[in-house]
Amino acid sequence: MIFSNKLIAWYLDNKRFLPWRETKDPYSIWLSEIILQQTRVAQGLPYFEAFIQQYPTVFDLANAQEDDVLLLWQGLGYYSRARNLHATAKKVAFELEGQFPTTYKDLLTLQGVGEYTAAAIASIAYDEVVPVVDGNVFRVLARIYGITSDISTQRTKKEFQQVAAGLISQKQPAIFNQAIMDFGAIQCTPKGTNCTPCPFITTCVAYQTNQVDKLPVKLSKTKVKNRYMDFLIFLDEQGNTQLEQRTKKDIWQNLYQFPVFDRFENTPFDIAEHLQKHHLADSIIQFEALTQEVIIHQLSHQKLHIHFWLVKTTALKGNTVAWSELNKFGFPIVIHNFIQSLTV
Ligand code: ADE
Repeated sequence: MIFSNKLIAWYLDNKRFLPWRETKDPYSIWLSEIILQQTRVAQGLPYFEAFIQQYPTVFDLANAQEDDVLLLWQGLGYYSRARNLHATAKKVAFELEGQFPTTYKDLLTLQGVGEYTAAAIASIAYDEVVPVVDGNVFRVLARIYGITSDISTQRTKKEFQQVAAGLISQKQPAIFNQAIMDFGAIQCTPKGTNCTPCPFITTCVAYQTNQVDKLPVKLSKTKVKNRYMDFLIFLDEQGNTQLEQRTKKDIWQNLYQFPVFDRFENTPFDIAEHLQKHHLADSIIQFEALTQEVIIHQLSHQKLHIHFWLVKTTALKGNTVAWSELNKFGFPIVIHNFIQSLTV
C-alpha cells in the first residue's frame, strides 16, 4: 500500500475529534493553527473554545481591544502569536472584507502565518495540495525513510518539504496533513517506545535498523540565557498595587507586570538599597520576601530566576490598580500563578 493510503487508514482509526475538524470555515481553521503553533492540542483546545465563544467571527476579533485578546491568551505563551492574531484579524476584517486569502502563497502574506500554518490552512480549508512540515513531520519521515540530515538547518527543511510533497495525497490533502500531524503526536512520538501497533513497522528504516531513538538528527541545541527578575509587589493602605505594561520588543511584550529589577547577570538584589536608589524609601512601611526559594520559569530561549517581594507603602507611583481588579489584566503566566497563590 502506498504511504498516503496507509497513513490515512491509520488516521481513520485513530484520529482525534477536534472542533476545528468539523468545519471548513477558514476563520476557525486559522485560529486553531495559530493557537497550535508551539502548543500541544490538549493545551490549545480550551483556548480555541474560549476564543470562538468570545469572538465567533473574524469581525468580533478585529473589533476587540488588544489587551482583552492578550488576557484571553494568558497562559499559552509566545505572546507575539496573540498580537499577530489580532493584527491579522483586523487586516482580514477591514481590508479584505472578512475574506481570508484562499491560496498557500497569499496566506503567507498574513502576519503570524509561516509556511507550516499557510500549508495547514490552504490544505484543510481549501484542499490545496501542499504538505505541512514541522518537527512532527521531520520525526515521522526521518524514521520511516531513514533520513539522517540535521534538522536544525534550512536546507534540511527544504529536503523534507520535497519528500513530503512527493507523499501527500493529491485527492485528500486535508486528511493527509491532519493524519501526519496526529501520527506524529500519537504514534510516532519523540520517545517512540511503542512501535508494535505501527502500520509502518515492516518498512520503517529506523525500526528495522534499531535507530528509532537516534532519528531525527538534531545537531545544534538552542542557546538558553539566564535572566534574573525581582518583582516588587507594592501595596498601599487602600489595597492598591502598581503595574507596568511591558512595551519593549522583548519577552511578554504588551503584557502587564509588577515593577521589576531585571538583569542577565546574577547580581544579588538588595531590596533596601534598591528602594533607596529609586527614592521610594521614605514612603515604605515594611517589606518582605514572598518567595523563600527561587521560582524557575523556562522559556524557549531564556531561563528566568524569579523572586517576588511585598512592599507596603503609603504612596504609590505610576499605574495604580486595586488588587481586586488584577484579573482584568493579562500577565505572564508565572506572575498570574503567583497572584493566584496569594489570593486563594
Ligand atoms: N497541530 C497543528 N495543527 C494541528 C491540527 N490542525 N490538528 C492537530 N494538531 C495540530
